[in-house]
Amino acid sequence: MINNNTFHNLSYGVYIVSTLDADRPTGCVANSIMQITATPATIAVSMNHNNYTNACIEKTGKFAVSILTEHSDPGLIGKFGFQSGKDVNKFEGVDAIEKEGISVISDSCGYLVCKVINKMETATHTVFLGEVIAADVLKDEPAMTYSYYHKVVKGKSPKNAPTYIPDEAPAVESKGKWVCGICGYEYKGELPFEEVPEEFVCPLCKQPKSVFKYVE
Ligand SMILES: Cc1cc2nc3c(=O)[nH]c(=O)nc-3n(C[C@H](O)[C@H](O)[C@H](O)COP(=O)(O)O)c2cc1C
Repeated sequence: MINNNTFHNLSYGVYIVSTLDADRPTGCVANSIMQITATPATIAVSMNHNNYTNACIEKTGKFAVSILTEHSDPGLIGKFGFQSGKDVNKFEGVDAIEKEGISVISDSCGYLVCKVINKMETATHTVFLGEVIAADVLKDEPAMTYSYYHKVVKGKSPKNAPTYIPDEAPAVESKGKWVCGICGYEYKGELPFEEVPEEFVCPLCKQPKSVFKYVE
């Protein structure tokens, strides 16, 4: 018997893993990141085979991790976590700085740049091991935890996240709420009577009111 609720008690942060697609910066949101060793500093990231970022890390041999804070623009999670770099230029309009040739997110509390030193395959995800070649603190703000993302930002995790739980899919589990059909963001109006306003834009994935569904 596997009780999926058990996994909710594992702790994570919320990060943007960036790399290069030839000359173009790209990347995606990941929560499955951990430090493996201190000397030399090494971290691991679990990346879905279907994420475009996976193939780009493989080719580039380098990636960076930007550590999001509780005050980071939630739109970053919508842009980097619910769209693919195959289809969009995710760094367009995003304030970034280049470190060791990789773009890192300015609106973060810090970054780590890594060179890939090894990898391990699972059925769905590659675990990349990265040796840290540069790291710095950018902002004195509390790092966003995965739990904060779910409880306070009210965000969801898409299918490619290793921690995805089917019941958590957008617009399925919520009842009596207006829910974004793209990223699962729950509109916090005076429910159940207030509709999502015409001009409302989802703060997570920036989609218009038309994608919101009322879930009984
Ligand atoms: C909160 C959150 C956590 C996520 N964690 C991971 C993760 O740890 N590993 C992963 O492969 N995908 C994760 N994802 C999913 C990717 O960010 C998502 O599939 C993204 O659209 C992939 O973009 P790409 O095709 O440009 O790489 C997460 C998404 C969100 C919103």
